[in-house]
Amino acid sequence: MRMVQFTDEDPSLGFQGRVCGGSRLRTSYYLCMRTYCTPSEGDEAADEVKKTCREVLAGEEVPGMESVAGYTDEEVENLPKFGRMGFEGGAGGKLDIVVVPDTTFFGLCWAMGFFWAGVVAVGMINKAIGLCMKSDRFSMPAESAPWRLVKRTIGLPATFGVRHAQSYGIWATVPPRIESITIALFVLLNIVLSVIGYTFFPGNMYYPKVRDQVLRWVADRTGIISFANFPLIWLFGMRNNLVLWLTGWDFATFNNFHRWVARVATVQAIIHSILYTMLIFYSMTLTSNSLLADLLTIYLLAGGWRYFLAWWTQLFWWTGEIATIALSALMGFSFYWLRRKQYEFFLFMHIVLSIVVLVTMLGHVSIFEGEYDALVWVPVIIWVLDRVMRIGRILVFNARFWNTRAQATFNDVTNMVRLEVPCSTSAYKAKPGTYYFLMVLNSYQFWESHPFTVATTTSHDGGEKDNDNMGEGAPLLENSDDESPDAPNTPLATGTMTPSISAKGDTMTFLIRPYDSFTARLRDAAAAAWPKPATVRVAVEGPYGHTQPLHRFDHVLFIVGGSGIVVPLSYLRRLREETPRPKTVHIHWTVREPALAEEVLRRDFAEALGGEGDQLRLDVYLTSSGANEVQTLMGGRSAGSSRRAVAGRAEEEAEDKVVQYHHGRADVRRVLVGECENATGSSLAVISCGPSAMQDGARQAVVQAMGVPANSSLRIEYFEESFTW
Ligand SMILES: Cc1cc2nc3c(=O)[nH]c(=O)nc-3n(C[C@H](O)[C@H](O)[C@H](O)COP(=O)(O)OP(=O)(O)OC[C@H]3O[C@@H](n4cnc5c(N)ncnc54)[C@H](O)[C@@H]3O)c2cc1C
Ligand SMILES: NC(=O)c1ccc[n+]([C@@H]2O[C@H](COP(=O)([O-])OP(=O)(O)OC[C@H]3O[C@@H](n4cnc5c(N)ncnc54)[C@H](OP(=O)(O)O)[C@@H]3O)[C@@H](O)[C@H]2O)c1
Repeated sequence: MRMVQFTDEDPSLGFQGRVCGGSRLRTSYYLCMRTYCTPSEGDEAADEVKKTCREVLAGEEVPGMESVAGYTDEEVENLPKFGRMGFEGGAGGKLDIVVVPDTTFFGLCWAMGFFWAGVVAVGMINKAIGLCMKSDRFSMPAESAPWRLVKRTIGLPATFGVRHAQSYGIWATVPPRIESITIALFVLLNIVLSVIGYTFFPGNMYYPKVRDQVLRWVADRTGIISFANFPLIWLFGMRNNLVLWLTGWDFATFNNFHRWVARVATVQAIIHSILYTMLIFYSMTLTSNSLLADLLTIYLLAGGWRYFLAWWTQLFWWTGEIATIALSALMGFSFYWLRRKQYEFFLFMHIVLSIVVLVTMLGHVSIFEGEYDALVWVPVIIWVLDRVMRIGRILVFNARFWNTRAQATFNDVTNMVRLEVPCSTSAYKAKPGTYYFLMVLNSYQFWESHPFTVATTTSHDGGEKDNDNMGEGAPLLENSDDESPDAPNTPLATGTMTPSISAKGDTMTFLIRPYDSFTARLRDAAAAAWPKPATVRVAVEGPYGHTQPLHRFDHVLFIVGGSGIVVPLSYLRRLREETPRPKTVHIHWTVREPALAEEVLRRDFAEALGGEGDQLRLDVYLTSSGANEVQTLMGGRSAGSSRRAVAGRAEEEAEDKVVQYHHGRADVRRVLVGECENATGSSLAVISCGPSAMQDGARQAVVQAMGVPANSSLRIEYFEESFTW
């Protein structure tokens, strides 16, 4: 109401006293309070008016809320309304009637919330259906042709062509199609809300020039919507995120939403700042109709700069400008290439700049006297809660978190760190497919926290393994035969890791592929102690992630590469021992290091390989060895495998039936075609975890398989376990 001018105002009373001089403004103000505020808020505001007027009018009293008691609700409803765009029809820009603001002053902030509430509702329905599928009381529902069409064309494919996990050069990855559509709708909503519903006309009471109206209204609108997006940015970016739990979607999905909401909010903030800055410049003596000419004038006019700089003495102004600069820098420092190459630097900048944005935004909206503060405090609360939950999870794993001593083993030929973490202290049992964040405490970069999927859990005390535990966790061997002087000198033999933990209690095993930073330091620490394991103190935060209902499918196919073997390992126990259980579990594992294949078969698959029945089959594709070498390696394995030495002939034959070695990469498409032929008329779960090209190949192959008429009676579901956040 501050900007609306009325004909019966007394200009001599100044801005504060405006409401005391003319009854139209005061009445309009009271009716606004009555319409949009609670009675107590209305009374509070009226008391403020009376107090101000007592000062301005030297003790004279003005009427309070009782002065509008005579207006019926119907009369108020029929009063002329004015919106953010102003009010056409005032005399000389001044009104000689009583008016109330319309609802364009309210509600924009909620549009974003409603949109994402809708998205989350879809996710919740999806989760509810998933829970029914998980329940043993329901059989796997058949799939209708239209639903399959929707899945095949919208739900599953990459947005364009094949690339989803693979990046477009150094620029970006593109989410799957269904996520891209959701994001596109969100972007569209923001564009539409930033663009529609303005009424520009010459002679508006706030800004007579249409140009200034455009600048001011659009600046206001984009600023408000940008700010309204803040809580969503923080909500979607947190590890401990309520909507993750409500929908059952993975972190990668919400991370994509986080990025796009943030990008949209940043662009809106930039537009907001530029338009306001232009408005300031235009409110100087600029008369040209050309922006370029005006900018030149601004540049040349020293006085103009002084006027502009005067705004920088205003708290709301400079904090707003800094907030926009910090938001833009946040976007720049989150560039895909930097995220991949300098993750810790990206994370540091993300945290520092986010704090700057929140603090400066609080200053920026201070002129609204608390009206918009919630849009800062909600993100702060979300952030603090996430940190509290993270600390809570660490303590729940081990209240004496500094005292978790893990054993790390590494040697060059396997190129894999095996980390065994004692987990008897944990209140939670690791579930299949879940991951934990690990921090190495006896490192000067102890705050670095990295996610790893728990491959197996093992009981070392000779007692029973908990039924909820997943994985196989072969009983630990005494020194392996492979390391005896007589063992054949093959990479398989030399590559075998020394069994590590001999302590009692449960352990979780992680297989960690060394990259360049955290994982490289872990590798170096372990390599320095080889052949003994290195002891590292770790803080363990978790579990995170969801267990997929793979046991509900008739057939389960894992397509994995390298360290991606941890995913089938984590599900193996559940898939083999719980009912219902799939008829077949086929694992196609492409791996470079033959020694790693041997190591994992011997230690992590031992129990499964020796089992009864023909449920499990494991195809190992060795890519660093030639065809002849593969034969040799297999021969070496037969002659010298420690497991065989311990287990004997019967298990050796059982293993030969289960494990097949191949030379070269798995042909993912061919594998899937074969699997579909075997699974006709039933249900098949396909899970991929491996290099991004492999994952994209698997996704594409599933999409194609869904379109094959011969597979119409086969229900196929695709699950991607990815580390590409
Ligand atoms: C859910 C999940 C489960 C995973 N499970 C395993 C596993 O069982 N075994 C395994 O070997 N690897 C796993 N990874 C990958 C593993 O987390 C990264 O390889 C590791 O964090 C890289 O650390 P670094 O500092 O050595 O990486 P760098 O060499 O600095 O970077 C390598 C890659 O890892 C990414 N990265 C780095 N730090 C993080 C982080 N804190 N969070 C997320 N990504 C990061 C980078 O963006 C980059 O793409 C998993 C990843 C995810 C998301
Ligand atoms: N979410 C999780 O839980 C999790 C856990 C661990 C790992 N991962 C993922 O697993 C990946 C594996 O990492 P890594 O370093 O262990 O792998 P890696 O050693 O680089 O590769 C593993 C194997 O996959 C092969 N390969 C690559 N592209 C292929 C394709 N298109 N089709 C078939 N085979 C292909 C490679 O063959 P060549 O030798 O011919 O290149 C190699 O033998 C990581 O990139 C990560 O994405 C995810």
